[in-house]
Amino acid sequence: MSRSPKVKAMRSLVFTGVLGCFAVVGNATAEAPKSAGYYGYGMPATAEQIAGWDIDVRPDGLGLPEGSGTVEDGEWLYEEKCASCHGTFGEGVKGYPSLAGGEGTLTGGRPHKTVGSYWNYTSTLWDYIHRAMPYTAPRSLSADETYALSAYVLFLNDLVEYEFELNQNNLADVRLPNEPNFIPDQRPDVANERCMSDCRDPAAIEIVSEAPPLEAEASEEEVVEVALGPSGKDIYTKYCQLCHADGLAGAPKVGDVPEWAARSEAGLATLYKHAIEGFQGEVGMMPAKGGFSQLSDEEVQASVDYMLEESQ
Ligand code: HEC
Ligand code: HEC
Repeated sequence: MSRSPKVKAMRSLVFTGVLGCFAVVGNATAEAPKSAGYYGYGMPATAEQIAGWDIDVRPDGLGLPEGSGTVEDGEWLYEEKCASCHGTFGEGVKGYPSLAGGEGTLTGGRPHKTVGSYWNYTSTLWDYIHRAMPYTAPRSLSADETYALSAYVLFLNDLVEYEFELNQNNLADVRLPNEPNFIPDQRPDVANERCMSDCRDPAAIEIVSEAPPLEAEASEEEVVEVALGPSGKDIYTKYCQLCHADGLAGAPKVGDVPEWAARSEAGLATLYKHAIEGFQGEVGMMPAKGGFSQLSDEEVQASVDYMLEESQ
């Protein structure tokens, strides 16, 4: 029995298909340009491929795509895409993290870390949502959706009004309350300048540290020594100048005579109190003892004295 023309036609189709495949593979091997790279394979990433990975956003807003979204837009999106895990008010359900609340708990026994109580920059919020959420579909949100959702999470934390619209130009201006408590690493070995040519021989470099001993490690003798006293200048240099030398986070600069004169009008007792207990001023937040709770009240007062002396 001869096969129907239809079956024959199919067979030859399949056959051509297989041949076709071989032909393509053969061509690819023959024509692929030899890569100049070290291992002789791979190819340089295209600008488009790099752009796909280059999505980080910096605290000053660099890296943000154009776009905008309001709290109201975010509210709808959030209900649809986020509330099942993070709760309608950001309270977190089923063990998923909460996104709001926890103010004032960081120094307690059970710190409750959220965007509002703990995070440092609004750019981190934007970047995190854009990069990683919703949990089951990361990278699925458009720029506008991410602005709207970020705006809504800010709203849940009482940081913006309901009418607020977040966009690439105003994002860096929305400051999170805990930002001042993130301070630059002050260990001496992180302050070196990067060397790119004619550098020193690493074998000839000796690492020395002047960091104060950790409290737990300090022997009794050392504790006594600390109590007797580094000068106000020493304390200032180690603990205060990282903000007060250059005005970081809005800190009044040491040496700015009118600024300190104005602040002194409230009286020395107030300055001491603010430095020891911390305070939220008009320009920023002064953390209690600059964030170094191991300092005694006297040490903080001595450094305030020094800062005033240097600002007359
Ligand atoms: C299926 C559950 C789920 C959904 C839906 C979801 N998330 Fe998450 N989210 C998580 C989990 C789990 C984490 C913690 C991930 C980790 O720590 O690695 C998280 C972490 C976060 C964080 C960081 C919280 C912190 O303090 O560390 C933010 C912000 C966030 N999600 C926002 C969103 C937004 C906005 C949406 C909606 C677009 C969303 N999430 C949808 C499960 C979810
Ligand atoms: C993380 C940054 C930071 C560190 C570290 C820091 N300060 Fe401040 N400080 C500030 C800011 C910001 C203000 C201004 C707050 C305002 O007026 O809005 C301030 C204000 C002050 C004031 C003025 C208070 C007033 O009533 O006007 C004094 C005094 C002061 N700091 C002392 C200190 C001392 C002493 C130290 C070190 C033990 C220190 N600060 C470490 C950020 C810092």
